[in-house]
Amino acid sequence: MKLLKTLPGARRLIAIGAVLLAAVSLQLPGPAQATPSPVVGGTRAAQGEFPFMVRLSMGCGGSLYTQQIVLTAAHCVSGSGPNTSITATAGVVDLQDPRAVTARSTEVLQAPGYFGYGKDWALVKLDRPVALPTLATATTPEYDTGTFTVAGWGSAREGGAQQRYLLKAEVPHVSDAVCQQAYGSSLVPEEELCAGYVQTGGVDTCQGDSGGPMFRRDAVGQWIQVGIVSWGQGCARPGYPGVYTEVSAFAAEIAAAAAAL
Ligand code: ARG
Repeated sequence: MKLLKTLPGARRLIAIGAVLLAAVSLQLPGPAQATPSPVVGGTRAAQGEFPFMVRLSMGCGGSLYTQQIVLTAAHCVSGSGPNTSITATAGVVDLQDPRAVTARSTEVLQAPGYFGYGKDWALVKLDRPVALPTLATATTPEYDTGTFTVAGWGSAREGGAQQRYLLKAEVPHVSDAVCQQAYGSSLVPEEELCAGYVQTGGVDTCQGDSGGPMFRRDAVGQWIQVGIVSWGQGCARPGYPGVYTEVSAFAAEIAAAAAAL
Protein backbone atom coordinates (compact mmCIF):
# COMPACT_ATOMS: atom_id res chain seq x y z
CA MET A 1 0.00 0.00 0.00
CA LYS A 2 2.54 2.51 1.04
CA LEU A 3 4.86 1.39 -1.66
CA LEU A 4 2.20 1.74 -4.31
CA LYS A 5 1.19 5.04 -2.93
CA THR A 6 4.69 6.32 -3.32
CA LEU A 7 5.10 5.09 -6.84
CA PRO A 8 2.85 7.44 -8.76
CA GLY A 9 5.62 7.71 -11.32
CA ALA A 10 5.63 4.00 -11.86
CA ARG A 11 1.93 3.81 -12.40
CA ARG A 12 1.97 6.73 -14.72
CA LEU A 13 4.87 5.44 -16.71
CA ILE A 14 3.32 2.05 -17.05
CA ALA A 15 -0.01 3.61 -17.85
CA ILE A 16 1.34 5.64 -20.70
CA GLY A 17 3.73 2.95 -21.77
CA ALA A 18 6.65 5.34 -21.67
CA VAL A 19 10.28 4.52 -21.98
CA LEU A 20 10.90 1.01 -20.80
CA LEU A 21 14.28 1.82 -19.41
CA ALA A 22 12.78 4.45 -17.19
CA ALA A 23 10.28 1.89 -15.91
CA VAL A 24 13.14 -0.35 -14.91
CA SER A 25 14.48 2.48 -12.83
CA LEU A 26 11.34 2.89 -10.83
CA GLN A 27 12.56 0.99 -7.88
CA LEU A 28 9.85 -1.56 -7.62
CA PRO A 29 11.39 -3.63 -4.89
CA GLY A 30 14.06 -5.64 -6.58
CA PRO A 31 14.31 -9.39 -6.57
CA ALA A 32 13.49 -10.34 -3.01
CA GLN A 33 16.28 -9.20 -0.81
CA ALA A 34 17.20 -11.81 1.72
CA THR A 35 18.86 -9.30 3.97
CA PRO A 36 17.38 -5.96 4.93
CA SER A 37 18.10 -3.20 2.46
CA PRO A 38 20.68 -0.74 3.57
CA VAL A 39 19.40 1.99 5.83
CA VAL A 40 19.14 5.16 3.85
CA GLY A 41 21.44 6.78 6.29
CA GLY A 42 19.47 9.74 7.52
CA THR A 43 19.19 11.33 10.91
CA ARG A 44 16.30 13.23 12.43
CA ALA A 45 15.95 16.86 11.50
CA ALA A 46 15.43 19.30 14.35
CA GLN A 47 12.15 21.17 14.68
CA GLY A 48 12.50 24.33 12.59
CA GLU A 49 15.70 23.23 10.88
CA PHE A 50 14.12 23.09 7.41
CA PRO A 51 10.99 25.19 7.82
CA PHE A 52 10.28 25.15 4.11
CA MET A 53 9.69 21.37 4.04
CA VAL A 54 6.22 20.20 3.11
CA ARG A 55 4.60 16.77 3.27
CA LEU A 56 1.89 16.23 0.67
CA SER A 57 -0.95 13.82 1.37
CA MET A 58 -0.43 11.66 -1.71
CA GLY A 59 2.83 10.57 -0.12
CA CYS A 60 5.34 13.00 -1.52
CA GLY A 61 7.54 15.82 -0.29
CA GLY A 62 7.65 19.41 -1.43
CA SER A 63 9.11 22.78 -0.60
CA LEU A 64 7.54 26.18 -0.10
CA TYR A 65 8.26 28.06 -3.31
CA THR A 66 6.08 30.88 -2.04
CA GLN A 67 3.96 30.85 1.08
CA GLN A 68 1.07 29.68 -1.07
CA ILE A 69 2.81 27.51 -3.68
CA VAL A 70 4.54 24.18 -3.10
CA LEU A 71 7.18 22.95 -5.53
CA THR A 72 7.08 19.16 -5.92
CA ALA A 73 7.63 16.49 -8.57
CA ALA A 74 5.50 16.04 -11.70
CA HIS A 75 5.26 12.31 -10.99
CA CYS A 76 3.59 13.10 -7.67
CA VAL A 77 0.55 14.63 -9.35
CA SER A 78 -1.82 13.34 -11.98
CA GLY A 79 -2.09 16.39 -14.20
CA SER A 80 -2.88 20.10 -14.24
CA GLY A 81 -6.01 21.94 -13.24
CA PRO A 82 -8.24 22.60 -10.26
CA ASN A 83 -7.50 20.10 -7.50
CA THR A 84 -8.75 20.16 -3.94
CA SER A 85 -7.61 16.64 -3.05
CA ILE A 86 -4.13 17.35 -1.69
CA THR A 87 -3.41 18.29 1.90
CA ALA A 88 -0.10 19.97 2.63
CA THR A 89 1.41 19.63 6.10
CA ALA A 90 4.19 22.02 7.07
CA GLY A 91 5.92 23.66 9.98
CA VAL A 92 6.68 20.45 11.87
CA VAL A 93 9.15 17.59 11.75
CA ASP A 94 6.64 15.28 13.48
CA LEU A 95 3.67 14.80 11.17
CA GLN A 96 1.53 14.11 14.24
CA ASP A 97 2.54 17.31 16.00
CA PRO A 98 -0.64 19.28 16.77
CA ARG A 99 1.25 22.44 15.83
CA ALA A 100 1.34 21.31 12.20
CA VAL A 101 0.22 23.89 9.69
CA THR A 102 -2.05 22.35 7.10
CA ALA A 103 -3.55 23.72 3.92
CA ARG A 104 -5.54 22.30 1.09
CA SER A 105 -4.67 22.43 -2.60
CA THR A 106 -6.73 24.52 -4.97
CA GLU A 107 -4.85 23.99 -8.19
CA VAL A 108 -2.01 21.92 -9.60
CA LEU A 109 0.34 22.70 -12.45
CA GLN A 110 2.25 19.71 -13.76
CA ALA A 111 5.31 20.59 -15.85
CA PRO A 112 4.18 21.16 -19.41
CA GLY A 113 5.65 18.43 -21.60
CA TYR A 114 6.03 15.93 -18.76
CA PHE A 115 5.57 12.44 -20.20
CA GLY A 116 7.03 10.30 -17.47
CA TYR A 117 10.71 11.13 -17.66
CA GLY A 118 12.69 14.37 -17.29
CA LYS A 119 10.80 17.62 -16.49
CA ASP A 120 9.86 16.20 -13.11
CA TRP A 121 8.45 19.28 -11.43
CA ALA A 122 5.00 20.52 -10.49
CA LEU A 123 3.42 23.31 -8.49
CA VAL A 124 0.61 22.93 -5.98
CA LYS A 125 -1.31 26.06 -5.04
CA LEU A 126 -2.64 26.18 -1.48
CA ASP A 127 -5.94 27.61 -0.33
CA ARG A 128 -4.16 30.11 1.88
CA PRO A 129 -0.64 31.33 2.51
CA VAL A 130 1.20 29.60 5.35
CA ALA A 131 3.36 31.72 7.65
CA LEU A 132 6.62 29.85 7.08
CA PRO A 133 9.90 30.63 5.33
CA THR A 134 10.18 29.75 1.66
CA LEU A 135 13.12 28.06 -0.06
CA ALA A 136 14.90 29.99 -2.81
CA THR A 137 15.52 28.08 -6.04
CA ALA A 138 18.73 28.04 -8.05
CA THR A 139 18.46 30.05 -11.25
CA THR A 140 21.88 29.09 -12.62
CA PRO A 141 23.85 25.81 -12.43
CA GLU A 142 26.51 27.40 -10.23
CA TYR A 143 25.35 25.55 -7.13
CA ASP A 144 24.85 22.20 -8.87
CA THR A 145 27.99 20.87 -7.26
CA GLY A 146 29.42 20.10 -3.84
CA THR A 147 27.50 18.46 -1.04
CA PHE A 148 23.74 18.69 -0.86
CA THR A 149 21.20 18.22 1.89
CA VAL A 150 18.09 16.12 1.30
CA ALA A 151 15.16 15.64 3.65
CA GLY A 152 11.88 13.82 3.67
CA TRP A 153 9.33 11.58 5.37
CA GLY A 154 9.84 8.75 2.87
CA SER A 155 11.22 5.28 3.52
CA ALA A 156 14.32 5.01 5.66
CA ARG A 157 15.28 1.94 3.69
CA GLU A 158 14.32 0.39 0.39
CA GLY A 159 10.86 -1.11 0.73
CA GLY A 160 10.48 0.37 4.21
CA ALA A 161 7.68 2.33 5.80
CA GLN A 162 7.02 6.03 5.49
CA GLN A 163 8.35 8.05 8.38
CA ARG A 164 6.59 10.05 11.04
CA TYR A 165 9.63 12.24 11.71
CA LEU A 166 11.50 14.21 9.08
CA LEU A 167 14.84 12.64 8.20
CA LYS A 168 17.78 14.45 6.64
CA ALA A 169 21.03 13.39 5.02
CA GLU A 170 23.92 14.82 3.05
CA VAL A 171 24.82 13.53 -0.38
CA PRO A 172 27.67 14.56 -2.66
CA HIS A 173 27.10 15.58 -6.25
CA VAL A 174 27.69 12.90 -8.89
CA SER A 175 28.69 13.99 -12.38
CA ASP A 176 26.42 13.31 -15.34
CA ALA A 177 29.12 11.06 -16.82
CA VAL A 178 29.30 8.85 -13.74
CA CYS A 179 25.53 8.89 -13.36
CA GLN A 180 25.13 7.78 -16.96
CA GLN A 181 27.27 4.75 -16.16
CA ALA A 182 24.44 3.69 -13.88
CA TYR A 183 21.43 4.79 -15.84
CA GLY A 184 22.51 5.14 -19.47
CA SER A 185 19.99 6.95 -21.61
CA SER A 186 17.38 6.96 -18.85
CA LEU A 187 19.20 9.96 -17.46
CA VAL A 188 18.31 13.30 -19.03
CA PRO A 189 21.50 15.20 -18.21
CA GLU A 190 20.20 18.63 -19.23
CA GLU A 191 17.25 18.24 -16.89
CA GLU A 192 18.56 16.01 -14.12
CA LEU A 193 21.24 16.08 -11.49
CA CYS A 194 22.58 13.08 -9.57
CA ALA A 195 23.80 12.76 -6.00
CA GLY A 196 24.84 9.99 -3.69
CA TYR A 197 27.71 7.74 -2.69
CA VAL A 198 28.39 5.76 -5.84
CA GLN A 199 31.08 3.57 -4.32
CA THR A 200 29.42 2.63 -1.07
CA GLY A 201 25.75 3.50 -1.35
CA GLY A 202 24.11 3.73 2.05
CA VAL A 203 22.76 7.28 1.95
CA ASP A 204 19.97 8.30 -0.37
CA THR A 205 16.43 9.53 -0.73
CA CYS A 206 13.81 6.83 -1.20
CA GLN A 207 10.13 6.17 -1.90
CA GLY A 208 7.98 8.93 -0.47
CA ASP A 209 10.74 11.51 -0.58
CA SER A 210 9.86 12.39 -4.15
CA GLY A 211 9.02 15.99 -4.75
CA GLY A 212 11.07 17.11 -1.80
CA PRO A 213 13.99 19.48 -2.21
CA MET A 214 17.71 18.85 -2.50
CA PHE A 215 19.45 22.00 -1.33
CA ARG A 216 22.72 23.55 -0.18
CA ARG A 217 24.09 26.86 1.06
CA ASP A 218 24.64 29.63 -1.48
CA ALA A 219 27.44 32.21 -1.54
CA VAL A 220 25.85 34.20 1.29
CA GLY A 221 24.97 31.19 3.39
CA GLN A 222 21.29 30.92 2.52
CA TRP A 223 19.66 27.62 1.62
CA ILE A 224 19.08 27.27 -2.09
CA GLN A 225 17.19 24.46 -3.80
CA VAL A 226 19.09 22.79 -6.62
CA GLY A 227 17.10 19.59 -7.02
CA ILE A 228 13.74 17.84 -6.62
CA VAL A 229 13.73 14.19 -5.52
CA SER A 230 12.82 12.26 -8.66
CA TRP A 231 13.98 8.65 -9.04
CA GLY A 232 16.67 6.03 -8.68
CA GLN A 233 17.27 2.32 -8.95
CA GLY A 234 16.25 1.10 -5.53
CA CYS A 235 17.53 3.26 -2.71
CA ALA A 236 21.08 3.79 -1.51
CA ARG A 237 22.43 0.93 -3.60
CA PRO A 238 26.10 1.12 -4.48
CA GLY A 239 26.50 2.19 -8.09
CA TYR A 240 23.08 3.82 -8.25
CA PRO A 241 22.93 7.44 -7.17
CA GLY A 242 19.68 9.31 -6.65
CA VAL A 243 18.38 11.33 -9.58
CA TYR A 244 16.99 14.81 -9.01
CA THR A 245 15.28 17.31 -11.25
CA GLU A 246 17.82 20.03 -12.04
CA VAL A 247 15.93 23.02 -10.72
CA SER A 248 18.10 25.64 -12.42
CA ALA A 249 17.15 24.21 -15.82
CA PHE A 250 13.51 25.01 -15.09
CA ALA A 251 13.86 28.11 -12.93
CA ALA A 252 12.44 30.52 -15.48
CA GLU A 253 9.60 28.19 -16.41
CA ILE A 254 8.76 27.55 -12.75
CA ALA A 255 8.78 31.28 -11.97
CA ALA A 256 6.48 32.06 -14.90
CA ALA A 257 4.13 29.20 -13.98
CA ALA A 258 4.02 30.27 -10.34
CA ALA A 259 3.21 33.84 -11.31
CA ALA A 260 0.32 32.61 -13.43
CA LEU A 261 -1.03 30.08 -10.91
N1 ARG B 1 10.28 8.04 -6.99
C1 ARG B 1 10.44 8.06 -5.57
C2 ARG B 1 9.19 8.62 -4.93
O1 ARG B 1 8.16 8.64 -5.57
C3 ARG B 1 11.74 8.71 -5.16
C4 ARG B 1 12.84 7.79 -5.32
C5 ARG B 1 14.16 8.38 -5.10
N2 ARG B 1 15.07 7.31 -5.21
C6 ARG B 1 16.38 7.38 -4.98
N3 ARG B 1 17.07 6.29 -5.04
N4 ARG B 1 16.95 8.52 -4.70
O2 ARG B 1 9.15 8.91 -3.76
